Amino acid sequence: MRTFLITGATSGIGEACARRCFAHGDRVVALCRNLEKAQQLFGPELSSGQLVVFEHDLAHNEGLYEQCLKELAPYQIDRFIHCAGLIYLKPIHRTTHQEWLSMYELHLFALSEIMRALVRLSRLHHELSVVALSSVSAHGGLLQSAAYGMSKESVEHYIRLLNKQLNKQLNAVPQKRLAPPTEALAAAEAMTDPAQREHALVLAKTQAGLRLRINALAPAMINTPMAGGSEDILDEMYYIPLEVIIHWIFEILENPYMSGQTVVLNNDFVY
Ligand SMILES: NC(=O)c1ccc[n+]([C@@H]2O[C@H](COP(=O)([O-])OP(=O)(O)OC[C@H]3O[C@@H](n4cnc5c(N)ncnc54)[C@H](OP(=O)(O)O)[C@@H]3O)[C@@H](O)[C@H]2O)c1
Repeated sequence: MRTFLITGATSGIGEACARRCFAHGDRVVALCRNLEKAQQLFGPELSSGQLVVFEHDLAHNEGLYEQCLKELAPYQIDRFIHCAGLIYLKPIHRTTHQEWLSMYELHLFALSEIMRALVRLSRLHHELSVVALSSVSAHGGLLQSAAYGMSKESVEHYIRLLNKQLNKQLNAVPQKRLAPPTEALAAAEAMTDPAQREHALVLAKTQAGLRLRINALAPAMINTPMAGGSEDILDEMYYIPLEVIIHWIFEILENPYMSGQTVVLNNDFVY
């Protein structure tokens, strides 16, 4: 059983991620702003302890680091999916200070505070893999989502830098890489010639993946409460099925050789 930390688990992509975790027998720790909604959506999982919820308005993150240290300490978080998000569809010259702030708080500052706590709690001793939701808006100039796109672009920049910092540290301590793939080790061990076995073991060890990984997924539109029903946009874009997004999130989470990257699912949407 793995433990997933999920933000935005009460709607859309985050909710679908949480349901996939439950179906696989994993535990979810969710940071939600609306406990009543969580209770309505996940009553049985809350009662059984498969879901643990902490109340946080992630648009206001003062104290979030300290709270996460306290709340998350009893759990070993193996995977973290940062889904909480909001969008103000308006040109940047009409975007207010409060609107800019909410988007940066939710997309970037919450991620950064939670990561500070997770890195400190894990002390880089166990495998931790993270996916933060970005958006195809981070990659171009659709004017009505420009401010939103900028906040998502900053998420992609953040994951690149954090990866560089943390994995540089890990490279200096090779034993903090994951164990090499068991198939490669077994194949090496099975060799009868000692010199060949030695060589194959060295090669197997070089296939050890990264213990700490952080990546982003930048999709085009998905039919969730955030993007549903806007007919004028639908004239220009097609939806990506929710299952495809969920598939990619979990694919990225479990790829031991990838960190600091953004996977873009643009669905032929070109700016
Ligand atoms: N849908 C798309 O087309 C699309 C495309 C590209 C990227 N994305 C990104 O994918 C992520 C998930 O989006 P979605 O489509 O699943 O959207 P969604 O259905 O609207 O869900 C957004 C989630 O964020 C939570 N949230 C919003 N403000 C919050 C706050 N202040 N504090 C704590 N939680 C807050 C919401 O909580 P409540 O349930 O309480 O409202 C909800 O659980 C977002 O980061 C979004 O930017 C979406």
